[in-house]
Amino acid sequence: MNEKISFLKNKVYSDSPNKNIFPITTNIDKNGNLTIGGCCINDLVKRYGSPLYILDEITLRNSCKAYKKSLDKYYPGDSLPIYASKANSSLFMSNLVSSEELGLDAVSEGELLTALKGGVPNEKIVFHGNNKSDREIAFAIQNNIKVIVDNIHDLKRLERISETLDRNLEIMIRFTPGIECHTHEYIRTGSFDSKFGFGIEYLETLFKAIKETKFLNLTGIHAHIGSQIFELDPHKDLGEIMVNVILKAKYHGHIIKELNVGGGLGIKYTEDDDPPSIDEWIKTVSLSVYNTCKKNNIKLPKLMCEPGRSIVSTAGVTIYTIGSFKEIPGIRTYLSVDGGMSDNPRPITYQSSYSACLVNDPLGNSSKKRYTVAGKHCESGDVLFKELELGQCATGDLICVFGTGAYNNSMSSNYNRIPKPATVLVNNGEAEIIQKRESPDDLLKYDVLPDRFIK
Ligand code: LLP
Repeated sequence: MNEKISFLKNKVYSDSPNKNIFPITTNIDKNGNLTIGGCCINDLVKRYGSPLYILDEITLRNSCKAYKKSLDKYYPGDSLPIYASKANSSLFMSNLVSSEELGLDAVSEGELLTALKGGVPNEKIVFHGNNKSDREIAFAIQNNIKVIVDNIHDLKRLERISETLDRNLEIMIRFTPGIECHTHEYIRTGSFDSKFGFGIEYLETLFKAIKETKFLNLTGIHAHIGSQIFELDPHKDLGEIMVNVILKAKYHGHIIKELNVGGGLGIKYTEDDDPPSIDEWIKTVSLSVYNTCKKNNIKLPKLMCEPGRSIVSTAGVTIYTIGSFKEIPGIRTYLSVDGGMSDNPRPITYQSSYSACLVNDPLGNSSKKRYTVAGKHCESGDVLFKELELGQCATGDLICVFGTGAYNNSMSSNYNRIPKPATVLVNNGEAEIIQKRESPDDLLKYDVLPDRFIK
């Protein structure tokens, strides 16, 4: 039995969802079929179609609760976990995180609107971005949402808008701490050569510039060093560096009340991944901030963090239906599914690995074979698994890919005019649709054929 399957069989689940490959409610029914949230996957596909994104409510809520609980345990000051909605943005996700008392971070008017309409209170939303539009900034300000200033361009516009509105604004700044972490270079953001934030060397000038504004009040510092990080040291260092920035700001007359350490905690996609738990991560960050504040006799700031992937990834799976097979003797067997790079662009973008199993034979009890699992898009690189061991399978069987809750739906596209899958929420044997499946007709909605082209 291969390792990942034995994991499912023995059901050794960690309390920290990011350390599991499977949603906490994953099970096998009496017929040997996979179930999640008490729902039979075969039935879900019959009802909602394929490919299908599924989110497990219990796993999601456990992740949110784990962040809150550990912050309460380790950080003696005020704190707020903020969900990074770029991981998976929807009315449902906004509503769920806010029901768990988390805040939310948004990077566009679309994400802001989704948060507000989903019920996140405006004072718990922060607005990021290295190139916010005037319209987006105005939208944030009109809705009393705190803006995180990323660069001088942002600062100037905020100053202008606050002057026009004759309103004082509390702002946070994003700075780039110069911390290297071992993750894919595209998702590493805290090193000196990053498009985001102010470099440390620029902070003094910035602090002076903010002091000279009439309406802007600097109250918070933010940094985010990268994503899918398995080491704890970079975040320990970050806590210390950020408190030192608070000291520097104080020297220039700014009283910093809020410190936001960003997100970045990794998750277990495959057996080879061993991320720290949410508790270990929060403990590291909290102690680092707390100890450095104590040492320097600084009042504890409100501690915020911005997890995205570790909140939603493990709660999500994608179900595909197997279509064609192509055997190239002595080389490989391709197995093609009904989705691919449009619903999960991560393998082709970051060479990401996932775990998967057959829905009707999750433990791989039948004789096993290795397959290359290809998507249906017109692109040779559209491969979800270079090598995946599966039990006996045939056209029409279902494959479940784990850990797809984050950066799949939110990064999906309509490449090859393929409609986006539906998302269903499962809990306690009930399934509810939270995002409808697109239809090919929907994709024509924004196309315009000018009159003179219509005969
Ligand atoms: N805060 C900020 C400012 C961020 O830029 C990000 C992620 C987060 C928080 C959340 O980080 P997380 O906890 O999810 O690691 N598309 C890539 C990931 C890009 C992450 C971008 N920023 C992927 O699929 O791996």
